[in-house]
Amino acid sequence: MTKIVNNGDLDEAAKCLKNGGTVIFPTETVYGLGADALNEKAVEKIYTAKGRPSDNPLIVHIADKNDIDKIVREVSPDARKLMDAFWPGPLTLIFKKGGAVPTRVTANLDTVAVRFPSNETAQKLIKKSGVFVAAPSANLSGSPSPTVFEHVCDDMMGRVDFIIDGGECDVGIESTVLDVSGDEFKILRPGYVTFEDIRKITDKIKTDYVDIKGVKTPKCPGMKYTHYSPKAEVFVVLGSSENCKKYIDGILSDKQKKTGVLSYKNTEYKNADYVINAGDDMKHYAYVLYEALREFDKHNIDVIYAQFEDESGIGVAVKNRIFKSAGYKIINV
Ligand code: TXA
Ligand code: MG
Repeated sequence: MTKIVNNGDLDEAAKCLKNGGTVIFPTETVYGLGADALNEKAVEKIYTAKGRPSDNPLIVHIADKNDIDKIVREVSPDARKLMDAFWPGPLTLIFKKGGAVPTRVTANLDTVAVRFPSNETAQKLIKKSGVFVAAPSANLSGSPSPTVFEHVCDDMMGRVDFIIDGGECDVGIESTVLDVSGDEFKILRPGYVTFEDIRKITDKIKTDYVDIKGVKTPKCPGMKYTHYSPKAEVFVVLGSSENCKKYIDGILSDKQKKTGVLSYKNTEYKNADYVINAGDDMKHYAYVLYEALREFDKHNIDVIYAQFEDESGIGVAVKNRIFKSAGYKIINV
């Protein structure tokens, strides 16, 4: 049975983590499904609850920078600069793994992903439990990451010991994953902390993330699975508001299926069955994206047209998620 608690009442959930149970908790990015990272049996429960392939490694969440040395082999001076600049916050760093971390967490890689979330509830829970918390996003494998409490319950009731109600997540998409284990740093998954942000702190990063379809064994193993997909079929319509409107209105005038539109910059689509506005900038697009995809499903929408524009900064991360949701069905207009 799953017990629901509010974010002011963390004692029982913390004890559960300490004793090898599973707890879903809010972070500033998306909800995480946590278990004691150094307890192999507890970690196993995460994979079972999510229905997640076991070659996909987990992020270890900490609530004190000084704990880093207990889980990684070494921290280079430039990695330390990044920790000081962005922790706590939505940046996951990949280090050479320390001996205490079970290979079950890292899916047999010799590196480990570490993140210090800024969400207060997450920090309190980790501190109270006294363990490091391995946690993937708290969705069933393949569906969009949950960013609101209700969506966590939709996927995970009955599958974990505790769910903490932390309301809505601030960022809306997952953390940036940056590999700092080699000489040159590489973004493996774009996120809220951008290439430009990182580049200001270190010149060990040379290039931004580039979305390449169909890479067989990417270095970030989780990126190869179908991800972030609602039940509805998704098409990305890429171009200026004017061109997107013209194209999508054309589709809507002749639609056979229940059609939803994820609109950008308040573009109007009068003939759609359901419209969600993604806002005026990419930060807001990130904030609403996963919630919107699930909302379309709740309205039994068959096909979603997502209006999108190429933008730098956090736009790179939003593009990565939305292209994947669409299975790379992209219409350039
Ligand atoms: O914002 C987030 O990062 C959220 C919250 C809960 O913290 N967590 C999250 O976890 O998104 P997950 O498991 O859904 O995604 C973790 C990503 C996966 O793509 C995985 O392949 C990658 O990080 N990853 C984990 N360990 C890695 C490693 N040692 N080397 C390369 N990639 C790794
Ligand atoms: Mg995930």
